[in-house]
This record gives sequence, structure tokens and C-alpha cells, in this order.
Amino acid sequence: MPLKQKSLGRLISFEGSEGSGKSTQISRLAAHFQKAKREVVTVREPGGTELGEQIRNIIVHNSKGDEMCAETELLLFAAARAQLVREVIAPALIAGKIVLSDRYLDSSTVYQGIARNLAADPVAQINHFAIGNVMPNLTVVIDVPTEVSLKRLKQRASDLPDRMERENVDFYKKVREGYLVLAKGMPERFIVVDGTKSADAIEKKIWAEVKARLV
Ligand code: TYD
Repeated sequence: MPLKQKSLGRLISFEGSEGSGKSTQISRLAAHFQKAKREVVTVREPGGTELGEQIRNIIVHNSKGDEMCAETELLLFAAARAQLVREVIAPALIAGKIVLSDRYLDSSTVYQGIARNLAADPVAQINHFAIGNVMPNLTVVIDVPTEVSLKRLKQRASDLPDRMERENVDFYKKVREGYLVLAKGMPERFIVVDGTKSADAIEKKIWAEVKARLV
């Protein structure tokens, strides 16, 4: 299918709790764009650059990270993001590519701001300092009830849960609610899809929305 505005780069971020099915939907959306002859770059946060993967290791996997305070966590996520934007995302957008990001600034707003209770203003300022002016054109929230998300997480975990995954149910409820509130406040940037539907149904809904809004 021919797409309008072929030369425009587009950034689409995917957000949601653990086990919401982001990665499946990212690869399906990438396939749609590739079929439409668009070049696609997929990235994940934290990570996506050599430096970012090292930071990811400190935040997510390092057992010493158990003592990490919320402020440090926010700054480390922001540091990884700043690198990813300048090294990968911005150049890809300038080259007219489609960038699909598994998490982006809204993860910090929700996990560090809302769930870890850091004040909203500094979180927003740090987020914007990290990304410069590279805002997503569209953000897809895959919404699943917290119980479903935790059940999927347990089934998936072949090894010990990582530091973020050891959080309690209340934390994940705040994450879910946080995304829904954000999305409601910015309907022009966000779409929310029901993550309990079949992968095929979710894929169809996302592609329809993307076509209507971006291409
Ligand atoms: P990851 O294994 O990538 O989880 P997922 O598959 O759910 O994306 O780990 C990323 C973890 O880091 C996840 O628990 C969400 C969290 N996170 C934040 O708390 N703040 C952020 O800014 C980002 C990007 C991620």
C-alpha cells in the first residue's frame, strides 16, 4: 500500500506494563511498515546503544541496584534515553525512517513519577532535557489488568525476576492507572488498546490507527 508523506520520519513509542505484549506488536507493526516499503528501526529502552545497554545492566540487573534511590533511577533512565535519541533515533528520523521504540519518556513519567512518587515537574523537565525536541508522533499504550500482567510475567520468567519485576502489586496498579491518566490527557498523541484481546485483533487496531493518524 502506498503511504503518503514518504519522506517523513516518524517516532512511535509503545508503552504498558510488563507482560503487556509490546514486543509482539512492535514486530507486527514493523512488518506492516516494511510491506509499505518504509525503512524501520526498532529500539528498546533502557538500552539500544552500547552505553545504554551498560546503563540498563546497572538499573535492571545489578543486584546492588536494590539500594538505588528513585532519583538515581530516574537520572539513569534519562541518561540512557539521551544517548539513544542522539545516537540512533534522531539520525533515523532525519533519514526519513520509521522508529518504533519499546518504551520512551512516558515510562519515566509513569514508573518514576507516578509509581515511585517523584514530583511531576522535575521528572518532566529531566525527560525533556534528555529527549531534546524528539517527541513521539504517536504513543501506543497496551493496557492489561494488573493481575493479567503479573500472571504473564510469572509464566515468562525463566530465571529470577529482575529488580523492577520484584515490585509489588500496588506498584503495578499505579503504573497501569498512570498510563491511562496520561493517555486520557493527551488523546492527540496516545492510543490505548485492550491487551487482553488476541494478538491479531490488537495488530489490526494499531495498524488502522497508525494509518489514520500518521501515514
Ligand atoms: P524490560 O526488561 O525492558 O521490561 P519490559 O519488557 O516490560 O519493557 O525492563 C525495563 C524495566 O524498566 C521495566 O520494568 C520498566 C522500567 N522502566 C522505568 O521504570 N523507567 C523508564 O524510563 C524505562 C524506560 C523503563
